[in-house]
Amino acid sequence: MTSGELIYEGKAKKVFHSDEPGVVIVEFKDDATAFNGEKKGQITDKGIANAAISARLFQVLESQGIATHFREQLDARHLVVDWLEMVPLEVVVRNRVAGSLEKRIGLKEGTVLEQPVVELYFKNDQLGDPLLNDDHIRVLGLADPDVLHQLRTQSGTANAILQNFFGQRDLILVDFKLEFGLRHGQLVLGDEISPDTCRLWDGKTLKKLDKDRFRRDLGGVEDAYHEVLERVLS
Ligand code: TMP
Repeated sequence: MTSGELIYEGKAKKVFHSDEPGVVIVEFKDDATAFNGEKKGQITDKGIANAAISARLFQVLESQGIATHFREQLDARHLVVDWLEMVPLEVVVRNRVAGSLEKRIGLKEGTVLEQPVVELYFKNDQLGDPLLNDDHIRVLGLADPDVLHQLRTQSGTANAILQNFFGQRDLILVDFKLEFGLRHGQLVLGDEISPDTCRLWDGKTLKKLDKDRFRRDLGGVEDAYHEVLERVLS
């Protein structure tokens, strides 16, 4: 499998053609952004950690019945994945209050949510990725009701699987973001699952081991990604 022409470059990843139709190669960069690209930086070897963490988590989900785009890890920074026609929504699942939910509803960071809170955001940089309700999604034609239902159920199932997996490694899955796409009409989990897209706290100390260390200038960013990598691969 060799990498071909660049198809797309995002804030944290590049996507290349491969030598097989319908299959693409994702490169994980060390670039980090926050607040819709306003804050920019680099996290040494983040791409290596996120590629390996994502690969492992996609394998775990796939083995428990969630269809994902993952095929294989090509090398330290590159995953081979199926090309998906992406649904322009970000599905955020929350088990505890943090980040924008803390601002939106005013509960204290860390408050345990009795039931997971699922939110759908419009992937649209110009609008700043706004939170949408089902009526907004319908008028914009972003996902039909059946796809919307599947987005919610698959994200809920993924949450249960990932909470269990991280829990066994003494990590609390506070919240995370998923992106889905269609492969031959089937809804499939795509993008990445990493400390860029999850909030992960140490189970005992509640130390933040994710991108919040970068967003909030907490220091020890590289160490946090490395710690998650080690636990995920253990
Ligand atoms: P939030 O609290 O800022 O809304 O973030 C919720 C979760 O989604 C958190 O785990 C980080 C992740 N996330 C992304 O992966 N990409 C984004 O652009 C944003 C805003 C959040």
